[in-house]
Amino acid sequence: MINVPFLDLKAQYRSIKAEVLPAVEQVLESASFVLGKSVAEFEQAFGKEHGLRYCYGVSSGTDGNHMALWALGIGPGDEVILPANTFIATAWGATLCGATPVFVDCDPVSYNIDASKVEEKITAKTRAIVAVHLYGQAADMDPLADIARRHGLALVEDCAQSHFAEYKGKRTGCLSRVSSFSFYPGKNLGAYGEGGAVGTNDEELATKLKMLRDHGSERKYHHDTFGHNYRMEGIQGAVLGVKLRHLAAWTAARRRNAELYGKHLAGVGNVITPKEMPYAKHVYHLYVIRTPRRDELQKFLETRGISTGLHYPIPLHVQKVFAPLGYKKGDLPVTERLADEILSLPMYPELTEEQIAYVSSAVREFHS
Ligand SMILES: Cc1ncc(COP(=O)(O)O)c(C=O)c1O
Repeated sequence: MINVPFLDLKAQYRSIKAEVLPAVEQVLESASFVLGKSVAEFEQAFGKEHGLRYCYGVSSGTDGNHMALWALGIGPGDEVILPANTFIATAWGATLCGATPVFVDCDPVSYNIDASKVEEKITAKTRAIVAVHLYGQAADMDPLADIARRHGLALVEDCAQSHFAEYKGKRTGCLSRVSSFSFYPGKNLGAYGEGGAVGTNDEELATKLKMLRDHGSERKYHHDTFGHNYRMEGIQGAVLGVKLRHLAAWTAARRRNAELYGKHLAGVGNVITPKEMPYAKHVYHLYVIRTPRRDELQKFLETRGISTGLHYPIPLHVQKVFAPLGYKKGDLPVTERLADEILSLPMYPELTEEQIAYVSSAVREFHS
């Protein structure tokens, strides 16, 4: 039996240890523990990679989601449209601003927000649409941008899972007014702790984001607006700066791994493998298959030493925290069905061909 963990962060650390340690040591020697040179350099490099003129390192993707909507002036009484098929932090952006999230069903093929179901959710209170590039595949942005333009709404991107992903040849993050990224350790670009970024190409919004990150202040002890402490740590900037240099190769490895899985799993039972949409360059943050016997398959794989995940087992509209919003089971049927059928297989750049073949043969064995 081969042991295949769901993630293997240690393997990646070992491969870059010789570069990471001196970079971290430099931060320690300079005592630039919060923001500082390492963060500024990383912001510049990361922003450039994503077509963002302004990019700021922040404390997490969740905080970035909050900042994006906060900078747009969204507040109590406003509604923010977002997909129900995502991680809870997408919705926190709206709720932390005092606004109400309005959930939309997802497309059955891409698993991203179904743009054709957005317009029916727009009311006089709607202020923004948040697109999530789930699992590493860009949402279909053109129809969303068109709706946003026609209704005077802000379009925002949650890029927590989509570093280096592309939509019609452009990187995600620069396809909307303001975007946020997560550098949670398991992400395609992961810090050694918490971290995130916000980005925009709008100078006025950029100034607001920068101030929100640091107590509403541009000059120390001068607080011109509200804010918070959403600053990135110096050590995370150093680690991310090193890791960013490897991200293109790691992304290529993820895509190669996905292709291999796709070959091995073609025609196995009624397993549906991920489909790369014609407009997208998928970066496979997660490799999510669909099967009606999901729970049984997950248990079977566990007996073969293979760890898997569920992203996400309970859609946002039926989470207990949102019960006061009045959604019920059946409201968003595609998302609900997916929640029962999706299974995330191990996926990371360091996964070997042997491990992929082993996981795939176990999936095949289950269906034989
Ligand atoms: C889609 C999505 N949005 C937001 C977040 C929040 O990011 P963080 O964990 O850095 O707060 C995550 C990941 O955790 C995510 O997957």
